This record gives sequence, C-alpha cells and structure tokens, in this order.
Amino acid sequence: MSEVENKILVKRINDLKRAKNAVILVHNYQRPEIYDVADFIGDSLGLCKQAANTNADIILFCGVHFMAESAAILNPDKKVIVPTIDAGCAMADMIDAEALVQFKKKHPDAAVVAYVNSTADVKAVSDICCTSSNAVDVVNSLPNKKIIFVPDKNLAAYVATKVPEKEIIAWQGYCPVHHVVNAEYVKSVRQQNPNAEVIAHPESKPEVLKLADHIASTTGMINVAKKSNAKEFFVLTECGMTERLNREVPSKKFTGLCNMCFDMKRNTLEYILRCLENESPVVKVDKKIQIKALEALNKMFKVSN
Ligand code: 13P
Ligand code: SF4
Repeated sequence: MSEVENKILVKRINDLKRAKNAVILVHNYQRPEIYDVADFIGDSLGLCKQAANTNADIILFCGVHFMAESAAILNPDKKVIVPTIDAGCAMADMIDAEALVQFKKKHPDAAVVAYVNSTADVKAVSDICCTSSNAVDVVNSLPNKKIIFVPDKNLAAYVATKVPEKEIIAWQGYCPVHHVVNAEYVKSVRQQNPNAEVIAHPESKPEVLKLADHIASTTGMINVAKKSNAKEFFVLTECGMTERLNREVPSKKFTGLCNMCFDMKRNTLEYILRCLENESPVVKVDKKIQIKALEALNKMFKVSN
C-alpha cells in the first residue's frame, strides 16, 4: 500500500468514525499506519480504562482478541468490533477455564489472579485481573498468602521477586515473542550497544529481567524513555514498539528485537475500513461469563485506577 493510498484510507476511516460515533482503540504493537486513525494508543491497562470510560456507541478495537473481549466485558451494551476476529494471543490460548477450575481444587486457599492476556472464560473463574503494569499492586492487595497466577509464568516469576512474602503458584504459560530471548542475547546486545539502556517487558524470562536496566509495560517503556537521561535504548519486546517509541520520543534512539507478534500485525487499514462500514465482526461474550469477568476486572480497577 502506498503512502497516498494509506492517506485516503485514513481519511475515509476518520470520517466514518465521526459519523458513527465510534472510537478506535489501538494497542502499541499495531502497524504504525494504524496509529493515524487511533483515538487512543496504549498498553493493556490504558486500553481497558479507555474502554471503561468511553461515550462512543461503537468501540473498534485494534489489538488481539482478549483485548477486544475485555472492552466487551466492560461495555455489555455497546457494540465492540474488530478488524480481524481470529487475531488471538498464543499465551492466552495456553489455559482454559475448565483446566483452571480443576487446578483451583488443588489449592483451595489460594486467590486466582488472571493476567488480562486470558479469555473471558478464564477471567470469569478468577478472583481478580491484572496487567503487566499493575500485577505487583494487585497481588499485594490480596489477603491470601497463596496466589495462583495465570497464565504467564514469566510475569508470575517477576511478581514473586517483588512480593516475597506471598507464595506464587504459576501456570506454565508464556508469550512466545518474549520467551525466546535469553541472557546470552542480552549480554551480546550490551556489548554491541554499550551506551544503550536496556528496557525489558515483564513477559521476559527471569534471566533477561535480571540483566535489564528497566522493566516496564509497553506504555511504561515510553515513560521510562522520557524520564531517563540516556539517549539510546535497546527494547526487549515486540518489534513494533521501537517505531512507537521513535514517534513518541523522537529526540532519542531506539533499537530492539525483530521478534514479531503476527496476530498483532493482522489488522490493516483496509480491514479497519471494512469493519467500520459493516460494523462487523462483533465480539460477543456470554452474559453469565460477562458478569463474572466484569467482577474480576472491576476489582483490578479498585486497586489500580
Ligand atoms: P502491555 O499491557 O504491556 O501492552 O502488554 C500486552 C502484551 O500483549 C505484551 O505482549
Ligand atoms: Fe500475546 Fe505475546 Fe502477542 Fe502479546 S506479544 S499478544 S502476549 S502472543
């Protein structure tokens, strides 16, 4: 798609968005041309908050399925639409509600914390949700000593280092995009970029987090880069984040992984236009599941608003 063709698409989408009183919520990992139709670009927590507070009639969500599903849980009376219905999350698919219910039976005194990278069904059988930016506060807020943390074992391990008084029982899921990075790689990055500070996403392995200068959610990375005195950064997360950082903090230099989340990249401007024209595909959540999952999300908002 040429730049001119993209501009035409952006104008058509923005006009239609206004005419239909729709809001377009965009995750940081989306293709950069999609940023131009966004009303808000952010991390999972920021996007959840926007979805919870919008006055729009239609929410068009550009991210992956669990994110749009959260918007639908938070807005049962609004239409939530996505450009690509089968853009999923490999980590979210590593657990299902039935397996979690069985697992809970083994630890009846534990509270269940569900990382938002999970399906509505999993959220519905959990006590509280968290995102990468509030996981430590969420776990700290619970009276239980034992915490079942699902589905990300790496985020669970990170939380365990911050809350040593709790017993964290981790589900063995992970994000393939982050999990492939190891300590050797970070050491070579340091050698090749001696002036760069290393920022890692908490979905990274413990051996990677130990070597990082900063650990942050995707939007947290933007804040770190703005605050730090460093001029160069190496970013250990999905490849799209370097473009987002280059735009947000143009005075500094960002390089990073070439690991791509293909699901995040499925959405395109053409699909967004088609989705807005047809008001479809719609993301639907069963009413009983929605009520229970909403409880878990609202508990998270009480801790982190
Ligand atoms: P953030 O909430 O930090 O944006 O993370 C979402 C995600 O899927 C990271 O892989
Ligand atoms: Fe899921 Fe990983 Fe993709 Fe994030 S980067 S959406 S955790 S597969």
